[in-house]
Amino acid sequence: MKVKELVLKAIDAKKNSYSPYSGFSVGAALLCEDGEIITGVNVENVTFGLTNCAERTAFFKAISEGKRKFTAIAVAGGDSYLPPCGACRQVMAEFCDKDFKVIFVKNENEYVTKTLEEILPFSFSGEDMK
Ligand code: THU
Repeated sequence: MKVKELVLKAIDAKKNSYSPYSGFSVGAALLCEDGEIITGVNVENVTFGLTNCAERTAFFKAISEGKRKFTAIAVAGGDSYLPPCGACRQVMAEFCDKDFKVIFVKNENEYVTKTLEEILPFSFSGEDMK
């Protein structure tokens, strides 16, 4: 897997963050099963509640380009390991298997990898509606 490339692309993506209200830039790099990497940034809004996180931006870009299978995502923001918010974890659960890799990036040399199952256990899914 292209872990280091994902880490570097997540860090680089931060430069395009639109975050005038929080001043907190977040970048994400999503690895699709076909090998393509799609980036995303947080896009804030003056109403605050409409803010879209970097991870969901990457997923929605990818889905809208026809991607449906994903291997990993790296997320970078601030000076320490960035754990994705709950809403982003649920979006990951919609499209990814339990072994999908989520890479919390601190800097280009320090990052930790978790599985989706580790960061969102007992998640609600279509199976629960049967
Ligand atoms: N943010 C993300 O982009 N991803 C996360 O997982 C956590 C939070 C953004 C949303 C907002 O623009 C800023 O970080 C502060 O919450």
